[in-house]
Amino acid sequence: MSDHDSQVATCTVERKVAWVSLNRPDKRNSMSPVLNRRMMQILDELEFSEDVGVVVLTGAGTAFSAGMDLQEYIRIPQSEGLAAVRRAQRESYGWWRRLRWYQKPTIAMVNGWCFGGAYGPLFGCDLAFAAEEAQFGLSEINWGILPGGGAAKVAVELLSFRRAMYHAMMGEAIDGKTAAEWGLVNEAVPAAELRARVTAVAEELLKKNATALKATKDAIRRVGVMTYDEAEDYLLRAQEAAFYYDAEAKTEGIKQFIDDKTYKPGLGAYEKRGGSKGK
Ligand code: COA
Repeated sequence: MSDHDSQVATCTVERKVAWVSLNRPDKRNSMSPVLNRRMMQILDELEFSEDVGVVVLTGAGTAFSAGMDLQEYIRIPQSEGLAAVRRAQRESYGWWRRLRWYQKPTIAMVNGWCFGGAYGPLFGCDLAFAAEEAQFGLSEINWGILPGGGAAKVAVELLSFRRAMYHAMMGEAIDGKTAAEWGLVNEAVPAAELRARVTAVAEELLKKNATALKATKDAIRRVGVMTYDEAEDYLLRAQEAAFYYDAEAKTEGIKQFIDDKTYKPGLGAYEKRGGSKGK
């Protein structure tokens, strides 16, 4: 990938938080094939890096992302034929899927416009915080298609049936505050406070056991489609698998509470001793 292409998404790591920024502000960070390839590359680089504990995804300029690049992702591949269309789809869906099951906790920091295809990475991130001023929309209906690329599924996963239907059929944008009320994001704060709030959340996550965080985020995504008995079984086995990778978590947290009395699990995390391979 050329230097120029690699700039379509950037990453800086500060105190174990990786700040990944979609960086095509002049195109409102719409997702082109080059951007999608670059994002997969960045996610590859960060996933098992010892220097990174939390990944934040945001956008440069006024947009989080204006969705798929209607020229480079949709129009050009369509004119090149089915193989090009499928390749472009694999490249975008690929990194959103990667995010959904990512090893590290992920936070979407929605700083501005967030439309259509951008709901893929929005949902791919475990947590989402928005500027009150941000604008969210399933705009597909406005340019004549259904909310594809998973966007309709994201709406149904996160919103009530009536809200999802209204959001998809009307193509009206909602602001960050409404997005928080509707459950599209965890919280909305004034734009000027967004980075500080996300930093505070990331710092809390960094204190937790990393293996347990990965097991927890997978559990929350998996159990929704399981019966109660299936979920019970899955959770039992997921916990046992987590102990396999991180023996410390089996003993240390309980020891520090029951024996050492150095913390209370109801009020915060135990002090990590470094036994977590996934830290
Ligand atoms: N695909 C391709 N180009 C896009 C784009 C997209 N999804 N979104 C914005 N751009 C481009 C514009 O064509 C324009 O390019 P130009 O400078 O070469 O003319 C540039 O980004 C700036 O866009 P503009 O519309 O002038 O910015 P704005 O700040 O006034 O409006 C939006 C921002 C997001 C409201 C508006 O760009 C928009 O509606 N984008 C499309 C949203 C959408 O439906 N996305 C597809 C969902 S899958």
